Amino acid sequence: MIKGEAGVAFIGSGSAQVETVLSNDMLSQMVETSDEWISTRTGIRQRHLASMNESLAELAAQAAQAAIAAANLAPDDIDLIILATSTPDDLFGTACQVQAAIGANRAVAFDLTAACSGFVFGIVTAAQFIRTGTYQNVVVIGADLLSRWVDWQDRTTCVLFGDGAGAVVMQACDRDRLLGFEMHSDGSMNGCLSLAYQPESNALIDGVASQQGTFKTITMNGREVYRFAVSRVPEVLEKTLFHAGLAAEDIDWLILHQANQRILDAVAKRLKLPNDRVVSNMAKHGNTSAASIPIALDEWVRTGNVKPGHKIAISGFGAGLTWGAALLEWGL
Ligand code: ACO
Repeated sequence: MIKGEAGVAFIGSGSAQVETVLSNDMLSQMVETSDEWISTRTGIRQRHLASMNESLAELAAQAAQAAIAAANLAPDDIDLIILATSTPDDLFGTACQVQAAIGANRAVAFDLTAACSGFVFGIVTAAQFIRTGTYQNVVVIGADLLSRWVDWQDRTTCVLFGDGAGAVVMQACDRDRLLGFEMHSDGSMNGCLSLAYQPESNALIDGVASQQGTFKTITMNGREVYRFAVSRVPEVLEKTLFHAGLAAEDIDWLILHQANQRILDAVAKRLKLPNDRVVSNMAKHGNTSAASIPIALDEWVRTGNVKPGHKIAISGFGAGLTWGAALLEWGL
């Protein structure tokens, strides 16, 4: 290893959920849908929803604290906090609130927005700072409260999303456990999935008006996003494996963004990976956007399924459109 460069290890995980649960049956009292439709088309049975007194910062802080404790570190050991989110409490950023809440007094903190790819892009970003020797200990959090931005009258989207947060601690080490990664964007397909700002004119004085708007609710062309996911996700995973000199059968666990069970099944089939190596928890959580991969990873670590040395392929995909994959080896 060249002096000043370090490898990256993944040494702890954590996650946090809000208490309130909205089941498919409860949803069917709100819009024309059914548990049968939602579960067969998506695999989702319920989702957690943040209530009035719960914030993104609080949830992200709980996940980060759990990850730091699992890594046997103290908040003061943390150099950098990256909060991947599309639903900040504050448009100026929420990562600094997380930093204060967990008492990571030495850390610099910032938000990163890449929708459901945010966690993958976050760990790749963190790895750059660690590999160059700039930082030793980094917390990457994926947290989203998409329920804030769902149109609860729109059955084509409101059945999909839920709230949550997950985190990992990455640390400098001699041998690099980030075995490969790929990141992509295609802004020409931005309209397929968006949570767009809607400006309204606010007249200030004669001839001068400012914009004073708000964000709309989530709009999605589900079929286009589905087609995009089932073609791009296997492709990006295959490329990542190829560059790492590995094959699909070398993967112990595949953790995809938890958008739809049918997407997970299609990707596993294309990679010829048995279903028992594909981690799925969307039945309990729905699509929690940037949080979905780190929540699934943390649940799989805490149930003892992930052992040190296991190779885990992760892939995020979603709004932007963005997509990416990373191949990592768990533990020190
Ligand atoms: N309940 C009952 N019926 C419904 C519902 C519902 N909740 N939603 C739609 N329908 C109806 C439609 O109106 C349509 O009826 P019609 O045939 O009479 O017109 C029928 O069901 C089929 O609708 P489709 O949209 O074709 O259903 P599809 O099988 O494509 O499933 C779904 C929709 C689940 C959204 C799917 O397209 C999907 O998962 N897409 C990918 C979404 C995704 O992965 N997003 C990830 C990124 S998220 C992020 O980045 C924030």
